Amino acid sequence: MQNSNQKHNKFYVTTPIYYVTARPHLGSLYSTLLADVAARYHKVAGQEVFFLTGTDEHGQKVAQAAEKAGMKPKEFTDSFIDDYTSVWNTYNIAYDYFIRTTDQQHIAGVQTWLQRLIAQGDIYKGSYKGWYCTPCESFVTEKDSQETEVGKALTCPDCSRLTGEVFEECYFFKLSAYQDRLLAFYEENPNFITPKERMAEIVNFVKGGLKDLSISRTTVSWGIPFPDDNLHVTYVWADALNNYITAIGYGDDSRAQELAKWWPADLQIMGKDIVRFHAIYWPAFLMASGLAMPKKLLVHGWIKVGDQKMSKSLGNAIDPMQLAQDYGVDEMRYYLTRKMAITQDSEFKFEDISQSINAELANAFGNLLNRMATLVVKNEATHLNPPAQWSHSSLELQKQCQIICDDVWSLVDQGMLYRAVARIWDYINLVNAYFHEHEPWKVIKHDREKFLEIMSATVHSLQIIGILLWPVMPAKMELMLNSLGCPFDTSINYKESMKTMSWKNSFIIQQIATLFAKSEIKKEDIEEVTQAAQPQVKPAQQAVIKTPEVTQASVTPAAKPVENGTENIGIEDFIKLDLRIGTIIDCEIVTGSDKLLKSQVDFGPLGMRQVLSGIRKHYSPEEMKGKQGLFVVNLKPRKMMGFDSHGMMLFALDELSGLKIVGLVEQVAPGTKVG
Ligand code: ME8
Ligand code: MG
Repeated sequence: MQNSNQKHNKFYVTTPIYYVTARPHLGSLYSTLLADVAARYHKVAGQEVFFLTGTDEHGQKVAQAAEKAGMKPKEFTDSFIDDYTSVWNTYNIAYDYFIRTTDQQHIAGVQTWLQRLIAQGDIYKGSYKGWYCTPCESFVTEKDSQETEVGKALTCPDCSRLTGEVFEECYFFKLSAYQDRLLAFYEENPNFITPKERMAEIVNFVKGGLKDLSISRTTVSWGIPFPDDNLHVTYVWADALNNYITAIGYGDDSRAQELAKWWPADLQIMGKDIVRFHAIYWPAFLMASGLAMPKKLLVHGWIKVGDQKMSKSLGNAIDPMQLAQDYGVDEMRYYLTRKMAITQDSEFKFEDISQSINAELANAFGNLLNRMATLVVKNEATHLNPPAQWSHSSLELQKQCQIICDDVWSLVDQGMLYRAVARIWDYINLVNAYFHEHEPWKVIKHDREKFLEIMSATVHSLQIIGILLWPVMPAKMELMLNSLGCPFDTSINYKESMKTMSWKNSFIIQQIATLFAKSEIKKEDIEEVTQAAQPQVKPAQQAVIKTPEVTQASVTPAAKPVENGTENIGIEDFIKLDLRIGTIIDCEIVTGSDKLLKSQVDFGPLGMRQVLSGIRKHYSPEEMKGKQGLFVVNLKPRKMMGFDSHGMMLFALDELSGLKIVGLVEQVAPGTKVG
């Protein structure tokens, strides 16, 4: 009983162990970062975590690279270890153990494994004639290769390089004997591989028939020697895959409890290039060893540069150290976790990093914190207590918060970390909308209690956002949580405490320097942004800015608003605006907002567009349907309450009668230009 509880409360996560033929690049960082983010989520959920990473140091590929460098293999691999650990340390990767396959303890573990499997007949001696791809350290059969002409070298199905012919006496692992058990296992565990589409590929491959796997080489000397047969060294995958169990004590009887405590792994992360080794060979090795199957394989796509995979051997690798220096560690952690989609390949672009730092981190998130802190400091409300009673809109925010928290945890369980982070941003957008719609900078003038409630709801929200984003940006979130007077505490099971969240906390707020500095964007980007004259490009220090909704309802979109009228602008500024007539085809309310309406607008040759307007207090959706109005159509799209707005409808604000549509006396075709 105690044992099963213990199992439930642990989380064992692994990364691939990387070939040490070059320094780590962004691709190696990506897998390791995903493991770190997952590990930290499970810490937030109160679990005991073991996070393993390391290096794969044997085999022909490493031996050849060492020879080229004029070094002995071990001397060569030693020379890269600091590069790995310093990238991991720079990026705050909190691994618990770094395994090297040249560690004595790993070597002994693999030899014990070989001995046991030889003794039980799962490994036998034979001979192999066939094809080998050294860059992939993989045997290629005619079935896998597109090139099947007799006498011609086969090409590797993974990297398309020509393979080399090998004829060797070797040891085989009886992979063929596990075909049915593997298929039964996949069928019983349809969630074994995430994303699911990868599972289908594996099932098809196994159904196509499995041959026994050659697991020793006599022509390579850089590897783990076979016990009692030193002419043979262990094939790299039989060596490398076992790292996941030797690291936690496999083969060492004095560590049996440790192995029982941590195995099976809860999450094994890798790129799609090595899924076959992890989804077929590895489970078969484990079945032969009488060990349980890993709970889940998380298989991610590649980071690409242009349309090429970023890789050590292609020479297009990007140095993570430089990126940390240029953009900041947590900013890069955020960019990689959120913008690289796990389920597909993602293109790496420098301008995307700046974009997400500026729009998401600095504007949407950092500004909210800053505006709240400026207001509480200015109004002597830094010691913030919860209100005696929450109003309807605050309760609605709390409800949304609960829904989003549940979604985040479920996405984390599925390994869909990029989607979990996107969901947290939905909440940041909701809190921003709540903050702007309540206009606390106005409310303070006549209702201090209400002002304090708005601030308290905002700070409660920021605390939850800080905890939910801690796994992604630990240093920044600790900084923010400290400034809210609720330091991050690793001993708390926040996942559990969030379930019964009561929003009854008191906070002591300190204003801190800007949480996320803006990143420089290229000149073209700046011009585009300035042209759009969005409130979000204003400097972070300007604590209170006009809300998007208010700006949207203003008739002076591109001009700086002043008390009585506006600044003069030149015609060159005016003609930058693309003003059009649009016809509202459909209009509906936005759930959770008491200001926004969402319209589908016909712009003729420009097509249909979605436009959000902060007019719900003035117009019902039914009243808007069928109306023609004046729109600015070349503003950069904005997100409000999770929806994109591709344009801005213009209104006249009459102090007495409220907001009025700026319309035409006569009807014109949708899309007609105005100017
Ligand atoms: O395959 N995008 O090591 P390896 C995303 N030693 N991830 C990438 C990537 C990219 N462009 N490039 C590399 C090996 N990766 C074996 C593993 S495990 C028992 C042995 C990541 O150095 C991704 O996780 O070639 C990929 O699977 C791994 O690095 C390959 O690392
Ligand atoms: Mg590789």
